[in-house]
Amino acid sequence: MKREYSNENLVIFWDSNKCIRSGNCDRQLPQVFDINKRPWVNVNAADVEEIKRVIDTCPTGALSYSVPGKSRLKKTTIKVQPDGPYKVEGKCELSGLDGKIIDAGDVFALCRCGQSSKMPFCDGSHYRSGFKDS
Ligand code: FES
Repeated sequence: MKREYSNENLVIFWDSNKCIRSGNCDRQLPQVFDINKRPWVNVNAADVEEIKRVIDTCPTGALSYSVPGKSRLKKTTIKVQPDGPYKVEGKCELSGLDGKIIDAGDVFALCRCGQSSKMPFCDGSHYRSGFKDS
């Protein structure tokens, strides 16, 4: 399930299939991200730059954003998340062994711990397995 929450300054995208409930969002900005409320995202409850900063900490890309009037596409980057997945951001296609595209999008997280049941994507198993960077 994909949802959008917006005002005139920001559009927040949430993809429940990518969400591993890391808690980064609601711990840092509970006035914006409150899983006990519907809708659970209040885009008007904090400064745009603060919301963007917190969304950038989402380890799997379940949360992402765009600014109205600006391109959502960024240079493609791959970032190692502390004790977690590789976070791929930017226009990118991921293909399987058969050459078929598995995912194409702006943000997704690839498992680095080897424990995911949704390979090649992170499903949060690194938390449960206690995966740590060496
Ligand atoms: S890195 Fe998240 S499940 Fe492997």
